[in-house]
Amino acid sequence: MEDFCKRLPKIELHAHLNGSLSESTIQKLCQLEGAPHLFDNWQVAINHGEHRTLSECFEMFKAVHALTVTPEAVKLATASVISDFEQDGIIYLELRSTPREVEGRMTKEQYVDAIVEAILAHQGKIVVKLLLSVDRRHRSDDAEHALKIALDVRAKHPDMVVGLDLSGDPTAGSLDLFLPTFVKARQHGLGIVMHCGEVSNKAEVLEILKFRPNRLGHVTCLHPDLGGCQEQWKTLIESKIPVEACLTSNLRCKTVPSYEKHHLRHLLSARHPVALSTDDKGVFCSDLSNEFHIAAKSFDLSEQDLRDLSINTVDFCLASQQMKEQLRRCFQ
Ligand code: IMP
Ligand code: ZN
Repeated sequence: MEDFCKRLPKIELHAHLNGSLSESTIQKLCQLEGAPHLFDNWQVAINHGEHRTLSECFEMFKAVHALTVTPEAVKLATASVISDFEQDGIIYLELRSTPREVEGRMTKEQYVDAIVEAILAHQGKIVVKLLLSVDRRHRSDDAEHALKIALDVRAKHPDMVVGLDLSGDPTAGSLDLFLPTFVKARQHGLGIVMHCGEVSNKAEVLEILKFRPNRLGHVTCLHPDLGGCQEQWKTLIESKIPVEACLTSNLRCKTVPSYEKHHLRHLLSARHPVALSTDDKGVFCSDLSNEFHIAAKSFDLSEQDLRDLSINTVDFCLASQQMKEQLRRCFQ
């Protein structure tokens, strides 16, 4: 089964750039910063059997951000992450990242341009699209800035930026602050993906579901067994909005008690559309093949079930119809 999961062509729809850096990429970035020992005493990955609280996980992103501080470093990081995914059998990747400036070293525009350059320079078969993230800890101006950059990049490279994401510490910020930007993004034809219900927050969850993003990340605390309620779960299931399910991320962040008790079980039994995803493969020390394998073991899925799960993900990509046809042909 492990081998089957590796060989299965896969689609990754929920991957944060700075959370996806492998240990070897982090070492290369340390060299580039002229500080080869910067991470010697800092553990960047949460290995098998280990767990962190949500806030400890967010501390880890800060550490990684200290390395992607120049366009050159961002380009190297992006190129490495794309190669890692390709080696794991990913045929289509929607990579997401929050435009970030570093005083005196890089503007937000340069940050995003560096990612775009790395995507364009990649020579493999994997298709890569970009989502720009809005961090809930930021201000509404930052969200507007992210939208402007997304539209500027799209003008130069049509089809490269496919949407806007709402992410960041789920205990911070408020949806209302950013909703006007997401409304505008939708009017401009961008896709919308939102992290939803990583912590219990009924009012916000219902507001997000009403807004109907193209996809939802996590939906951890919606089911009554995991801190939600029947109303939230029923509204989700009736919405049929595809869910990016991140098994290992949720387990290692301690938002679900075990794989077996992960809400993917309920999503599968309700035949709800799901895309297995890694979230932050570097920080959570996993890859998408591993996530498929875990799903198979935890929920007794057959090879055919996994094949169907992977092929069905094509429908939830924010790519053109033509690209979706191309991906379906890949599976055939
Ligand atoms: P970046 O956007 O490429 O810098 O990737 C790291 C960022 O992604 C973090 O600082 C968070 O804002 C966001 N992120 C990564 N994982 C999660 C998650 O599980 N929930 C919410 N936000 C996340
Ligand atoms: Zn995420």
